[in-house]
Amino acid sequence: MSKSLNIVLLGPPGAGKGTQAALLLKEFNVLHVSTGDMLRSAIKEGSAVGKEAAGYMNRGELVPDELVTRAVVERLSKPDTAHGVMLDGYPRTINQAESLGHALAKMGRKLDGVLYFKTSDAVAVQRLSGRRVCRKCAKNYHETNMPPKKAGVCDLCGGELFQRDDDKPETVKNRLKVYQASTADLVEYYRSKKQLIEVDGDAAADKLFKDIVALFKNRA
Ligand code: AP5
Repeated sequence: MSKSLNIVLLGPPGAGKGTQAALLLKEFNVLHVSTGDMLRSAIKEGSAVGKEAAGYMNRGELVPDELVTRAVVERLSKPDTAHGVMLDGYPRTINQAESLGHALAKMGRKLDGVLYFKTSDAVAVQRLSGRRVCRKCAKNYHETNMPPKKAGVCDLCGGELFQRDDDKPETVKNRLKVYQASTADLVEYYRSKKQLIEVDGDAAADKLFKDIVALFKNRA
């Protein structure tokens, strides 16, 4: 890749943003910045940010804008983001989108596109209810769509697979509601700025990956 590429992965919970990010990292020399992963690490470490975020996340609600924006802007100021970033799960509100725009402008950078994973609720629910994550290396699996070779065990590191607390049915329902109420407006927000690139989030992961690579190959 010759120049920096800054993209946002936008879509409902279970759209496959994290799955595609992991695949795209092998293709593009950019950094994956997932606010969900950052917040889960903060909870694991027991930091002040983690303590504040935990309750919101367990209920499937959004963590306050100010807290998550501070964490993202701090991350974007590190030198390893120079080749560009793939922002996964941020922004999630108009307020966050505006903060991101200001922060990038201040750094002399701009967004190259917002990849919107248009995904149906039924597919999102099926994916989240079957998702399993490695406790050691955090690799994602799905009980039926992408099963590990041995049930309950990570193919890569042998770690134990578990279900995220917020993937339980009641919390999933709330996360989808919160997405509609707070995040879905970003689709029109970015469409009006001519930054939206829509892909079929319901598609099989390998097909979607090929489509996305083709879309970004000429931009990178
Ligand atoms: P976060 O971790 O960002 O969760 P999310 O956006 O809800 O996204 P998910 O990780 O659930 O889904 P995904 O789209 O990455 O799907 P995945 O690839 O894993 O956020 C968690 C919480 O943190 C939020 O609820 C909030 O509280 C807080 N938070 C985070 N960011 C915030 C922000 N900016 N502001 C405020 N609060 C914030 O795939 C799902 C499953 O499907 C997997 O099992 C996978 O194997 C399978 N799969 C994926 N793609 C396919 C496919 N194409 N075909 C078949 N199966 C597939």
